[in-house]
Order: sequence, then C-alpha cells, then structure tokens
Amino acid sequence: MLLETKVISNGIKYSTLPTSYVRPAPERPKLSEVPDWETVPVIDLGCEDETFIIQQLGDACRNYGFFQVINHGVSEEIMEKMLKVADEFFHLPMEEKMKLYSEDPFKTMRLSTSSNVKKETVHNWRDYLRLHCYPLDKYAPEWPSNPSTFKEIVSKYCIQIRNLGLRLEQAISESLGLEKDCIKNILGQQGQHMAINYYPPCPEPELTYGLPAHADPNALTILLQDTQVAGLQVLKDGKWIGVKPLSNALVINIGDQLQALSNGKYKSVWHRAVVNADKARISVASFLCPCNDAVISAPKELTIDGSSANYRDYTYAEYYKKFWDRNLDQQHCLELYKN
Ligand code: OGA
Ligand code: NI
Repeated sequence: MLLETKVISNGIKYSTLPTSYVRPAPERPKLSEVPDWETVPVIDLGCEDETFIIQQLGDACRNYGFFQVINHGVSEEIMEKMLKVADEFFHLPMEEKMKLYSEDPFKTMRLSTSSNVKKETVHNWRDYLRLHCYPLDKYAPEWPSNPSTFKEIVSKYCIQIRNLGLRLEQAISESLGLEKDCIKNILGQQGQHMAINYYPPCPEPELTYGLPAHADPNALTILLQDTQVAGLQVLKDGKWIGVKPLSNALVINIGDQLQALSNGKYKSVWHRAVVNADKARISVASFLCPCNDAVISAPKELTIDGSSANYRDYTYAEYYKKFWDRNLDQQHCLELYKN
C-alpha cells in the first residue's frame, strides 16, 4: 500500500512509525517539555457585563491569540453529536471513505490525509474531512450521506458556530476601538470551511505531529476538541503550552486576516497538534474566511491614516492561493505581505 496517498484511519495498528512521518531530531515535539499547568484564558460569554467580556477578549487576543469560551450559545447537545458523527465517519470502511479522497485543496468537499501531501516532505499523523459550509444550501448536498445523520447534524452545528463567530467578530472589533460591524464589513460575505480532524493512535508520538506548527490563513477559527484527549499546543512567548480540553468549551484563535486587519495588534499565533500512543483524537475546526474579493486592509483608525500600515493591501483570494502553494510549517505566510 502506498502510505503517501492513503488515509491512516484504516484500523491498522502500527508498531513503528513509517519513515515518511519521522521528523528530523531538531524538529520533534519534545512532549515532556510542555508544561501542563499553563493554558490559554477562558472567557465566559454568558457574563452580563459586555464591557468586561470585550476587555478580556482584547487581552486574550493581544497576549495569546488563543482563548477558550464557555456559555457561548452553541448547544451542548449539538457539540456532542458533532463529535460522535465525526467519529462514526472515520470508522466507516476504507472503500467508503476513499470515494471522497482528494489532494486538491480547492475542492469544496474532500477527505485527505496529513496536510499538503503534494508539497510536504514529511507527512503528519492526521486524516481530515474538509467541507465548505456556507451557504449551506449550496454545499450541504455534496457532503457525505454516510453516516445518514451527517448532513443534518453538521448543518445545525455550522449555523450555531457561524452565529458565535459573527458575535465574536463584533466584540473583537469593539475591543480594537472600532465600530461593532467594522471587521464584518471589511470581510464581506464570509465563507465558512470545516476541517474534521482525526488523529489515530500513533506508535511513536515523540517523532511526529498530527499537525506541525502553523498559523491559520483565515480570519477566525473556532475549534471543538475532543473532551478527553489533549493534543493542541500554542506558542506563547517562545514556549509551547497546551490547551486543556474543557467540557462544553470551544477554542477560538485569531487567523492571519485578523492579524492583518488589526495592523498586527492581534497575532495569528503558531499552534500545532501532537499525537499520542493510546487514543485517537478528534477535533472539528470551523474557519470563517473573508469573501474571495475582500480587500484586506487595516482600518485607518489603526494605522494613523494609512501611514503606518504594517501590511500591504491584498485580496483574500490571492492570499489563500499563496498559502496553499507553500508548505504548512514554512515561514508565516503573512510575512510575505509586510510593508
Ligand atoms: C487546524 C488546527 C488543531 C487541532 O485544523 O487548523 O489547528 O487540535 N487544528 O486539531
Ligand atoms: Ni490551525
């Protein structure tokens, strides 16, 4: 079997890591060096004091680029169902899953493995199902029809996640001292993509990644992670820290486009997923993306009338193509747009 081009959620128990997944020694995760006492801020969106929420959001975006939210309005029931149907999908027979397999990043629905199989030199211990999700009536019909409940559950989940994302963008706008709808207006009719990630148990987790260090190319990411199995790590002041699974919480991070729009005040930080020997881990990432022809340009309030813009203007379509033309763990894509 050609490992390079096949999914790894195949039920095979590997006793050693295939060499195409082995990272050179200096690039390995050094799992024991990541402290388990430090994690990212948790923000209660159910709090009645909106000013306090906005202040906490601003602090988290400036200092971490990552935070968890609780009382966020996405129902616990739909979060549970989403994780369960994701698990069922990855347990379908190989032949069924392989019908959806593709390595073309511009397909609107595909199952794939690792991250960018055609470009990368070392593979990652991950399979993923990637879906476009907005507008729903355009994309949901092409989603998997097996499991039979997949479309219904994922549709409901997507609607609730989008509402949360738009609310967060408003609060993030305000935390930057901008009009509530400022970010939303610049991003235009936002796209929504989903990556359902499946990280099988890995025979030698010290030697590889589920996802290597990367920054997300979109505007805002909302991650539902396995409630039991940890794996997400975030770079904070040059050190890796873990994001503890917290039941009923969602993990939020700033993507490259909010870094650009905030004129660099908020950071799209490096993060990675590590794997473990015993348990499979699932995560569901929802990405809010600017519309393709949105011009990403920091508002003048943040650039002293345009004179101190940190990045040159570009369209999201241009950025997204550049991102996929490169390797995930290369230099930050946004660096290429620096003034
Ligand atoms: C991603 C991502 C982290 C995780 O899909 O972009 O960073 O924990 N996922 O799966
Ligand atoms: Ni990511």
